Amino acid sequence: MKSISVIGSGTMGNGIAHVFAQHGYTVSLIDIKSEFLEKGLATISKNMDRQVAKGAISAEEKETSLARISTFTSLEEGVKNADLVVEAATENMSLKLDIFRQLDQFSPAKSILATNTSSISITKIAAVTKRPAQVIGMHFMNPVPVMKLVEVIRGYATSDEVTQTIMGLSRNLSKDPVEVNDYPGFVANRILMPMINEAIYSLYEGVAGVSEIDTVMKLGMAHPMGPLQLADFIGLDVCLSILRVLHDGFGNPKYAPCPLLVNMVEAGFKGVKTGEGFYQYT
Ligand code: CAA
Repeated sequence: MKSISVIGSGTMGNGIAHVFAQHGYTVSLIDIKSEFLEKGLATISKNMDRQVAKGAISAEEKETSLARISTFTSLEEGVKNADLVVEAATENMSLKLDIFRQLDQFSPAKSILATNTSSISITKIAAVTKRPAQVIGMHFMNPVPVMKLVEVIRGYATSDEVTQTIMGLSRNLSKDPVEVNDYPGFVANRILMPMINEAIYSLYEGVAGVSEIDTVMKLGMAHPMGPLQLADFIGLDVCLSILRVLHDGFGNPKYAPCPLLVNMVEAGFKGVKTGEGFYQYT
């Protein structure tokens, strides 16, 4: 595996491109507009500067890594030589299905098609391609250059060989991959989102305030961020959509999103990206 195409240059896509380029892979970064690609490259450069400032990499390594990234606004051009495609587009089912139909058409028949989805069924995505055995989930965590986990999700038809290839590749990126099966929320979000939802219920029911809830979890459970701050960081709309996947997928009322979360999303208070969620960001 040498040539990696990454679809989407947003927070997750640019983080994934960053990590592959830094580990010697040739990266084709693809997005629909050149200004999105420029913004993605600027973020990678800024995040590499943090690593240079910490002495984790040299300024020369930064430049060599950046030089491994090419950008494309044409998906067809960007995936034509890919050994692996990692899709990190917006978390929208019909968009992802459409992208995977195109990936199947334009990428080499041998290439593996991975998705960074946090909640959409890998099995469903794989089913729109003619190579479901070569479709897999590769779920990175934000911030990608920092977080060690890759949740590797096997769809119903994903082959053992493809799973082992992606597990090995993740280790080559200095990550610790964990293999899981394709059920709603996989493991990460099946456990994380009910915790976040319960924190929101605690606020909604007046058990404690925002900073009190977060302080309990930070100081009491050694979490780097409290659940409400983490929800803002992930995006409240993303949290809501994952909870709905869990609720629909299992049909269990324990996953029902807190009405306060629903109201906040409907009012446009989506966390860091909109400037306000449980906290204000200016
Ligand atoms: N790129 C490169 N380096 C970065 C970075 C980035 N984007 N962001 C932070 N860093 C580095 C910093 O330079 C710093 O490096 P050193 O340890 O060498 O000093 C280190 O990471 C810590 O950063 P900061 O000092 O700025 O801040 P912090 O100590 O508060 O840590 C954090 C920031 C790593 C984000 C930490 O708060 C944290 O771990 N938060 C929880 C993150 C988390 O839970 N992520 C998962 C979200 S869920 C998800 O992604 C999946 C989903 O499906 C919803």
